[in-house]
Amino acid sequence: MTPMTDNPFRTAEHVVGSYFTDRADEVDMVVRAMTGRGRLLVYGPRRMGKSSILAVSAVRVRSGGGVVIHADLATAASLVEVADRLLAAVSAVEPWHGRLVEWARTLSPVVTLGFDELGNPRLGVGLEARPRGGEAERALLERVLDRVESVSARESSPVVVVLDEFQRLSELGGEGAEWLLRNRMQENRATSFVCAGSKESLIQAMLQPKRAFYAFFEKLHVGAMAPAHLARWIDERLTGSGVRARGVGAALVERVGPRTQDVVQAARTLWFQAALSGRADGDAVETAIAEIVRNDDTGLRRTWEYLTPLQQRLLRAVAAGAVELHAQETRQRFELGPSSSVTTALDALTGRSILVREAGSTRFENPFFREWVRRETG
Ligand SMILES: Nc1ncnc2c1ncn2[C@@H]1O[C@H](COP(=O)(O)OP(=O)(O)OP(=O)(O)O)[C@@H](O)[C@H]1O
Ligand SMILES: [Mg+2]
Repeated sequence: MTPMTDNPFRTAEHVVGSYFTDRADEVDMVVRAMTGRGRLLVYGPRRMGKSSILAVSAVRVRSGGGVVIHADLATAASLVEVADRLLAAVSAVEPWHGRLVEWARTLSPVVTLGFDELGNPRLGVGLEARPRGGEAERALLERVLDRVESVSARESSPVVVVLDEFQRLSELGGEGAEWLLRNRMQENRATSFVCAGSKESLIQAMLQPKRAFYAFFEKLHVGAMAPAHLARWIDERLTGSGVRARGVGAALVERVGPRTQDVVQAARTLWFQAALSGRADGDAVETAIAEIVRNDDTGLRRTWEYLTPLQQRLLRAVAAGAVELHAQETRQRFELGPSSSVTTALDALTGRSILVREAGSTRFENPFFREWVRRETG
């Protein structure tokens, strides 16, 4: 028998519509920046829901006639690719289709007009005239950004450039690229810019005095969703799709929170398991977590194997719930050696984002890795 409805939870990629909940204040703030020629930076830890907030805001702005050019720079591997992603985002803006020829003509020969896999027009950086060298790459990026600006000056409705994972620009092009973007943003007041990023240390560095974005942005920090809200929403979504549940959301948040994606991923897995019987309880939560840990075994095991034995023992301590990692009792129990070694191992593990330190306590970044370590310890 197949389940009656679709899974009410979605993961991977941003979510919109009924798959999205809460964040009303955040969406309001982003929409205000988008429609008001703002310069907004949306930042915070990974997988809390930044991109979803941007996506829901963009839906709202588009429905009001605004044009949103959304480029995700997460996997761009060069400045040319950054320019290429912007061009792809421009190509996706329906009302501009008639103007793409003009774009290609103006930016020729570097930029060409072709078609994507679906047969839609797609501006891109041509292979033959591809710019080489930092200066030529920056010049291209500047021209593309300027072109968005020049178009926006002629529009009465807002034109918004969204750069998700914008810190890639800095990783790829250094401070030169940071200044380029800042100057383009400053020069053109007609376009709204919303930048987002999750590499907090990198972003904090970009905001320091003497760096390009010092005191430049209005800022929106996206943290964890209110646990009680998320818990209630999960129960409602389960019940609404035919799975009777009470307290399941709360149990999920408690076990795998606070990161939004982890909780929603566990809920999604749980729904697949519970849809047939039409009910879910505390055991279902544990079964769902066990399934995720099993599915992720290959990747988690590989992460584990790359660690030193001391780092592995330290992870065991954290997974077992040890709080005072430097305390003599903890070091003895988990064979961690002198306090200085604990410090070195902690730095290495936080540097690789396996552990995160928050308000004096240390936890796994990935709750399913914590569960994996617990299970392996027996
Ligand atoms: N407001 C929300 N309502 C319901 N689910 C959400 C919400 N926000 C995020 N999620 C869940 O978390 C997942 C990750 O969200 P999103 O990609 O927006 O986060 P992010 O902070 O941009 O992550 P990354 O750091 O990987 O860029 C989504 O696929 C969805 O499962
Ligand atoms: Mg994101």
